[in-house]
Order: sequence, then C-alpha cells, then structure tokens
Amino acid sequence: MKEPAGGRQLEFFQRDREGNLRDRKNFEFGDPAFSSNKKLPIHRWVPWVAGFSQSFVQSGLERHLSDRGTVLDPFAGVGTTLLEANLAGHDALGFEINPYAAFASRTKLLAYKANPDEVRRATKEFLEFQASALQKGIEPKTSAPAGFRTRGVFYSPKVMKKVLLVRDFITRVKNKRIADLFQISFASTMITYSNYSYEPSLGRKSSVGRPDVEDFAVAREIARKLDEMTSDIVWARRILADYRPRPSGKVINQSFFDSYRTIQSGSIDLLITSPPYLNNYHYNRNTRPHLYWLNFVKSPEDMHALEHQNFGKFWQTVRELKKVELNPLIKNREIIKTISTLRKKNPDRAIYGGNGWANYAATYFNDCLRFVKGARWALRRRGTALVVIGNSILQGVPIPTDRFLGAIAESVGLELIDIHIPRATRVGNSIIQSDVRVSKAGKKQKLYEAVVELRKR
Ligand SMILES: C[S@@+](CC[C@H](N)C(=O)[O-])C[C@H]1O[C@@H](n2cnc3c(N)ncnc32)[C@H](O)[C@@H]1O
Repeated sequence: MKEPAGGRQLEFFQRDREGNLRDRKNFEFGDPAFSSNKKLPIHRWVPWVAGFSQSFVQSGLERHLSDRGTVLDPFAGVGTTLLEANLAGHDALGFEINPYAAFASRTKLLAYKANPDEVRRATKEFLEFQASALQKGIEPKTSAPAGFRTRGVFYSPKVMKKVLLVRDFITRVKNKRIADLFQISFASTMITYSNYSYEPSLGRKSSVGRPDVEDFAVAREIARKLDEMTSDIVWARRILADYRPRPSGKVINQSFFDSYRTIQSGSIDLLITSPPYLNNYHYNRNTRPHLYWLNFVKSPEDMHALEHQNFGKFWQTVRELKKVELNPLIKNREIIKTISTLRKKNPDRAIYGGNGWANYAATYFNDCLRFVKGARWALRRRGTALVVIGNSILQGVPIPTDRFLGAIAESVGLELIDIHIPRATRVGNSIIQSDVRVSKAGKKQKLYEAVVELRKR
C-alpha cells in the first residue's frame, strides 16, 4: 500500500498501531474501556480510571471523518480522543477542568516536539544525580507540598527522601518540554511507591490488606517510565512527520460550559467524548496527590473551586441542599418521574437518602443540557457527536443515563441517530456498588456503557 503524502488521503486509509496503513472497511465501534490503552504508545503514559480506549476513538474517526477535520473533546481527561485525532491527521481541541489531566493531555500531544536524544541524556543525568545524592547522604532541598494532607502517611520516610530528590532534579531541568516529561513520569508512577492505591478510589493500601511501601527504587521506576516514553516519542515523530501541515492539538484547562468564548460556532466536524458518569466518581479527590505535588493546587479552597465546576458537581456538593430542581427546559416525563421517585426514597436517611441523590441527579441532567447545547453550538451542520456514557443505579433506582442524554439532546434540536451498547457490564465504582444502591435494584439491573450518537441537523 502506498504511503499518502498527508492527511488528505484519509478517506481511503487509516493507520494501524504499528503505523502501517490499512483500508477502512470495518466500522464496528471498538470497546470503549480504557484498560486496552495500557500497552499502547503514549496512551500508556498516564493511567486514568475513567478513560476510554484508543480503538473506540479510532473507529469513530474512521467512521465519521473522511477528510482532515477538527475533532473536539469537551471532557478530555488524559487526552485519548485528542491524541488519536492527531495521530490520524486531524486537528484536535479539548477542554478539561482538572489541571493535572489537562497537563497530561497537553504533554502527550506535544511530546513529539521533544528531542529523544535529549530526553535520554537527561534520564542518564537524573540517575547519576540520584545515585550520587543517596551515596553522599545529601539532604533534599525541596520539601513536600505544604497543603497536601492525608489521613495516613503518604510516603514512608525513605521513599519521601527519594521523591524529594526527584523534585530537586526536576527543578534544575531548564528545557521546559523535558521538565514536563519528567513531571509526567513522576506523576504517573507516584502512587506505586506511596502507601495509597486506587480501588478504584484512592485509599490507604493498608485498608485493603496491602503493606506500606517502606522503601522503593524510585529513580529506577521513573527512568523506566522515561525510557518507555522516549521510545513512544520516536514512534509518534515518525507518524506525525507524514502530515503537512502538522495536525494541531490544543487543550484548554477550563470548563466546557465556558467554551462559547473560545469555540467558533459550527467549527467542529466531530465530537468524541465521555463526560463524567452519574456515579460520583471523584476525579478531583482521586488526583489530589498529583494536583498538590505538581503545584496545581495549594489548598482545600483550590480543590473546592474545581468541585463546583465539575460536570454534575458531586453528591457531596449538593446533598445538603433543600431541593435542586430540574431545569424547566427538560420536559421529558421519564426523567422528571425518575428524579421524583428517587427523591422519595429513604427519607429517614437524611442527606444519605433519596433527596441528596435526587439533587445530584438533577444537577447532573441540568449539566447534560448545558453540554448538548454546547455541542450543538460547536458542531458544523451534519457534524456528529459520539458520547460514551454509563447508566446508573441510585438508591436502587435504575437510571438509563444514555437514553436520558439522548432525549435531552433531541430537545435542543440535535438528532438522536442511535444508542450503541458495545459491552453489557462495566466496573462500577465503590459508591455505586455499595449495598444501598445495587442490591435493591434487583438482579436484573446491570451496569453498562453506551455510545450515544448525535448529529446536528
Ligand atoms: C470520563 S473522564 C474523560 C476521560 C477521557 N475520555 C480519557 O480517555 O482520558 C471525564 C473528564 O471530564 C472532566 N470534566 C468534568 N467536568 C468538566 C467540565 N465542566 N469541563 C471540562 N472537563 C470536565 C473530568 O475532570 C474528567 O477528566
């Protein structure tokens, strides 16, 4: 198969993972679960509990973009959509409110600009620096972030010293691009050598029966990560070199709900995203170590601001409010009825009962409305949006979030083309799986994930 000169021949070919070109014949959606990204170049850099898979995005791009276009991800996470769009020769734009996730996406998208030889050199210097500091008993100059508090000890003393020496080294790296790669290699490994783990929410290793990490070869782990990253950079440079001009990649660390100022109406050809699910998974709390250690937040007040901008806010943020009403523009009877059923559940349980969860669900669907309005604004005529979303069970009440989102989208004039269900079950989070919510829903209720396909008329 002949290599194309640039993105213009995309209507006939797509690249596979090895960078080879192949025919676009098979248009089935890939499984949206992130786990399959763990071995793929660049995607594997930053683990993200609620990410989605490269193959899903790739199939969406193949199916909906025949020419070079602009792809939007309003809830970019660690940038799966944006990176895949660039690798396939499309321009990419993302919004992400979590500063760590936005930083990770941006670093991944721009990594091809780093010189692999310089990264290798810096990695070698880093290993030498660490070894010599430890051998000579040099005390670290930097300290742990003052505002970062945890119930248990986050790093055992020996590990802490090594981590601070990592910080010392990074502050000395003058080349910003290389310093960013070091920050990612640290951030993506920092939980491994801490006394915490994801289950999938962040908690103490000891509470799931695992021992604390007394000591760890921190520098070796980071260097291993950097080696992996360097070989991925070489790979990406090879792929992106074919595109003239290079596809652009931009990540805006802002709420998508404020995007009207940034996006020109009708400028987006394809939207591929996965907003937060109605499962109260707490992206901000779960990235607290990264946010503090990389200096993105300094105090609980900074965290608070982030929580209030999050899609659907969080149950913790709205549970004490008297009654959050659905936006009157949401007229779908099933949505209204579901919220009202939920509100009446377990009144004896005060903020843990139905009213708190109904407040959360109402806030969530109000934000679905803001989201689809933004999508309608951004998309060009006949442009498609693919939205991966999971259903929910709150207080035993099943909530078909996919269908509800579809109905809300139709109410703002988008066309609901289809709801695809690529896989029937998914891993819920600890809150959703807790007794109160799942067991009462009965055996037939399953958690699933759907792709809601929308089109601008
Ligand atoms: C399900 S994750 C997306 C994961 C992404 N598909 C990936 O593969 O990395 C949802 C993301 O939406 C972000 N988010 C939540 N509210 C937002 C808002 N109002 N504007 C922009 N991003 C938001 C969260 O921080 C989270 O990273």
